[in-house]
Amino acid sequence: MEINIDLSCIMVIFGGTGDLTHRKLMSAIYNLSYQNMLPDNFAIVSIGRRVFTDEEYREQIKKSVSKYSRFPMKDEKWDEIRSKVYYLDFDFKDNDGYIKLKKLLGDLDERYNTHGNRIYYLAVAPEYFEPIVGKLKFHGMNTHKGSKRRIVIEKPFGKDLKSATYLNEKITSAFSEDNIYRIDHYLGKEMIQNIMVIRFANLFFESLWNNKYIDNVQITSSEMVGVESRGGYYESAGALKDMIQNHMFQLLSLIAMEPPVSLHTEDIRDEKIKVFKSIEKVTPEYVMENMVRGQYGRGKIGDKEVVAYREEDKVSPASNIETFVAMKLYIQNYRWVGVPFYIRTGKRLASKSTEIVIQFKSMEKLLYFKEFDNLEPNLLVIKIQPKEGIFFQINGKKQGVENRIIPIQMEFCQNCPLENNSPEAYERLLFEVMKGDSTLFTRWDEVEYSWKFADTISEVWKNKQPNYPNYDSGSWGPKESDELLKRDGKFWWNV
Ligand code: BG6
Repeated sequence: MEINIDLSCIMVIFGGTGDLTHRKLMSAIYNLSYQNMLPDNFAIVSIGRRVFTDEEYREQIKKSVSKYSRFPMKDEKWDEIRSKVYYLDFDFKDNDGYIKLKKLLGDLDERYNTHGNRIYYLAVAPEYFEPIVGKLKFHGMNTHKGSKRRIVIEKPFGKDLKSATYLNEKITSAFSEDNIYRIDHYLGKEMIQNIMVIRFANLFFESLWNNKYIDNVQITSSEMVGVESRGGYYESAGALKDMIQNHMFQLLSLIAMEPPVSLHTEDIRDEKIKVFKSIEKVTPEYVMENMVRGQYGRGKIGDKEVVAYREEDKVSPASNIETFVAMKLYIQNYRWVGVPFYIRTGKRLASKSTEIVIQFKSMEKLLYFKEFDNLEPNLLVIKIQPKEGIFFQINGKKQGVENRIIPIQMEFCQNCPLENNSPEAYERLLFEVMKGDSTLFTRWDEVEYSWKFADTISEVWKNKQPNYPNYDSGSWGPKESDELLKRDGKFWWNV
């Protein structure tokens, strides 16, 4: 692949021994290298608190990459990056560590000809974001004339609007907005990038994409896993902050946005933000009526009995944190007025899937619609994971002498023939940071608006005790989630 942009850089990973680095980042780097997408002028410096030599660290990374990477571990491929991986141990708050780091980076710049370009990747717990940024600034490592200095911040970006604003002020005092890459890994997923293409490169979708033809939109991201080992974090988050404020809001904005004036980053982001601005004001009454929360109890996932959320490790036995959210929203603009957007996400649900269902309006009650009552509506389903593709439901005549009409399904599965070998989200995202393209990252005002929204809901929920657990593991969430749609004469499509 021919890229005419200077990709040379040293990637500095804070949190080099953490799960994210082992599972995702290093595999993404290996996969990029495997496809010859990394520049020769490239090196990685990982920082952690545990003491390892470079060689010991490289061996551990090799093991993790062998386990998690989508491409097989091949020694000749691994050798291309192995010697470019370095490890330093120091406490993220320790000045001496940054002095050591600065010296090493200077030496590596000379060895690899990386021109002082840096990508600082903060794969650490949120409480370290501020101290690391502060130290980088204090040691003059945040900017350098003629070099690119970028910073990548993992989620969660704050825990509410106030903390996010504070964090943002700290980061922007050291890095300019165009050098800040706020990760939302959903934006790295293949089919999420495909949403804009499907919408804006196909006449028959874009012309029907409005309240005249669309009855409702359903955005679901369901998981079968529970909180796993992340009970500590999840107890201060919950599904609203963990999934809705970021991933689900990003999906909503891509589905609902107007066509941007160009494909440039800021033009796209400008349109996304208009969607957030157009969401109907959420009052406490609105929250109580149109937002459902839930927490999983015991149940079965497949054949396996699983424990309730309150029995999970590092979770309070009286926890009132939600593991499920469903809501109805309206977007008050000319395109969408009157169309409900139903959004739901939860853990320990019946299946793992992320998909967007566009349900079209029914035809007038004439001809076939008059004769055959209750014909199914047309559906367009954008499947994001685990299958990636598009599914259509249309009405057609059943083959045979009888005159019967049945729903016909047409399905395009993008990753099925490739045996699920689509690029990992992190592969794409790291590559975009190297290119200096922040389209697939969230701009501050997107974060700001989505926190405002989430904070309003949290505030209302805080004042009203839920009655948990209210759904069984392995189900589709609390019954109120189904009732939310039933009231409107609709139901969730589990396609
Ligand atoms: C993360 C959340 O951002 O997204 C997790 O913190 C969640 O709780 C995960 O499990 C879901 O991501 P994916 O890619 O598996 O849908």
